[in-house]
Amino acid sequence: MKRICVVGTGYVGLVSGTGLADFGNHVVCVDIDKDKIERLKIGEIPIYEPGLKEVIDRNVQAERLRFSTNIDKAIQESEVIISAVGTPPGEGGEADLQSVWAVATVFAKNLKDYKVFVNKSTVPVGTGRKVYELIRELAGHNASFDVVSNPEFLREGSAVRDFLHPDRVVIGSTNPKATEIMKDVYKVLYLRKTPYIETNIETAELIKYASNAFLATKITFINEIANLCDKVGADVHVVAEAMGQDGRISPKFLHPGPGYGGSCFPKDTMALVEIFKEAGIRSRVVESVVEANEHQKAMVVDRLKELLPDLKGKVIAILGLSFKPNTNDTRFSPSKVVISSLMKEGARVQCYDPVAINDFKREFPDLDYKKNAYDACKGADAVILMTEWNEFRGLDLGEIKKLLKTPIFLDTRNVYDPKEMRERGFTYGSIGRTFIR
Ligand code: UDX
Repeated sequence: MKRICVVGTGYVGLVSGTGLADFGNHVVCVDIDKDKIERLKIGEIPIYEPGLKEVIDRNVQAERLRFSTNIDKAIQESEVIISAVGTPPGEGGEADLQSVWAVATVFAKNLKDYKVFVNKSTVPVGTGRKVYELIRELAGHNASFDVVSNPEFLREGSAVRDFLHPDRVVIGSTNPKATEIMKDVYKVLYLRKTPYIETNIETAELIKYASNAFLATKITFINEIANLCDKVGADVHVVAEAMGQDGRISPKFLHPGPGYGGSCFPKDTMALVEIFKEAGIRSRVVESVVEANEHQKAMVVDRLKELLPDLKGKVIAILGLSFKPNTNDTRFSPSKVVISSLMKEGARVQCYDPVAINDFKREFPDLDYKKNAYDACKGADAVILMTEWNEFRGLDLGEIKKLLKTPIFLDTRNVYDPKEMRERGFTYGSIGRTFIR
């Protein structure tokens, strides 16, 4: 078991650090955000992630997990330094790597004995090599270190389970010594026969982008099929179910909706487009996926206008602000596009989300935030269900109908049954099942 320093306590860093401690390693999670570290030290979890607090508490108690702002000391004490800092999209869609260079610099400064620098953040192909060169330049030719790419595939909302039970572990390295150290870090998974992919750094870096772009493509494809279903009177769920029976396709990630959002798919698809361009070729597929996803998000309001043509002065209830359920993350949430567009049309928005209101307020401070779904629907001319939180799956529909001024219900996650909704007297719209009788 290893002494590990994880730099960055965002979703990936915090969950990875905690998971690695749970595997028996000694982990110190560091961040420059003092407030965040103070909160973590007193047991407060800065993100909403089911099950995370329990695993953090148990590893802190076992003295395998600590939090600190002293990055120099944390690096000096550790053999493996994992960079899990943010790589947000820059001006042109390419990943902004400022934080990665900063971690590499502080790593180089504290390099006395052999250490492994592990890149867990999603970074463009070639970054690992550049990190290696930077550290070599700063730490000198006698410095003893390796750089490894170890991409993370966890999903928000199920991050703890995904980290503790991954489908595969990818290790990109040029030195067998570093690969062996990484195998030790993940020893528990190795013993459980989790598939290991050992490869070079560039391949590991590309695996992450290729996986995310493929999943984003799959979602975008079924969204387009759903849009077609609405035009021709077909049911997208039956189409997706039948497609999924083909083992080559698989039924996962074939659920239509208002477009993908979140911290990964939007930024990684945009970054992959740039990576292709830098390599002197184009990805027509990924470029189209980015464009089609933007269109899908914008289309929600067009769909509403089919049910309620003039939105000026109308009150619209929005249920769900996070990009998916079980997270407070609102990055690239389709709700942002929908709400902005409703406001442009002159509509007034009443919205509710079980956990993401505070995050949403940072960008939309002046919206009318309500304390539950029913308050949001009160007096509204229509309701749009944007995120499939469990509490929106079991709404008292009789009550919702009474509260709405007109019973218009646009269900962008296809939570409800179109036939039943119509029988209940709703004017009901969905994605890919609108004309199902
Ligand atoms: C994703 C990848 O799944 C994960 O492996 C990677 O490490 C990070 O990016 P995440 O963004 O947390 O994880 O959530 P995910 O469950 O993949 O959903 C992403 C988006 O796609 C959400 O907006 C979700 O609503 C949407 N989605 C997903 C669909 O619209 N349909 C689907 O069938 C699946």
